[in-house]
Amino acid sequence: MTQQNKPPTEDLLPGKIYMGDGITVSYDAPRCTHVANCVRGLPAVFRPKERPWIQLSNEASAERVTEIVRTCPTGALHYALYGGPPEAPAVPTTLTPIKDGPLTLKGDLVIQTPQGEVREVRAALCRCGASSRKPFCDGTHARIGWKSEQPGGQASANQRGDGHREAGQQADAAQRE
Ligand code: SF4
Ligand code: FES
Repeated sequence: MTQQNKPPTEDLLPGKIYMGDGITVSYDAPRCTHVANCVRGLPAVFRPKERPWIQLSNEASAERVTEIVRTCPTGALHYALYGGPPEAPAVPTTLTPIKDGPLTLKGDLVIQTPQGEVREVRAALCRCGASSRKPFCDGTHARIGWKSEQPGGQASANQRGDGHREAGQQADAAQRE
């Protein structure tokens, strides 16, 4: 194996790495909102009830895997082809609000996060205000039943669980006393 054909795992975003023949796929679980495009698109490879849940050996075509990974709207899935080109950003950049869910973006994205600047080609950004991984959506909108058409469009304090955090802080304080 030549240097340029080494698995380019260092180019991938944080997440669990799955190695295949000529392709590496990464999965950043907190950014998955379980819309299941991957499972519908390539059920032999994306098998959520099994471990490992991504089984690249079940698909001979790395090209087919890249097609399905690119349908992941949240950026939870990425790929790198050994010696192949990286995923090209969509042109023009598009932003699509998902009903009762995040804003999804495709394009040449530069996203400011608490951990620094992130270059992305696909992302789902939280608009309910309750994600624990802002600016990314982490699926909390579904758990709290957030509705995008509700007045103000932001999760209430109860939906965000602010009250629970306050209760937790009070409990912590009580234990310290
Ligand atoms: S968000 Fe991406 S990884 Fe998660 S189920 Fe959907 S397509 Fe698959
Ligand atoms: S929109 Fe998904 S967690 Fe806020």
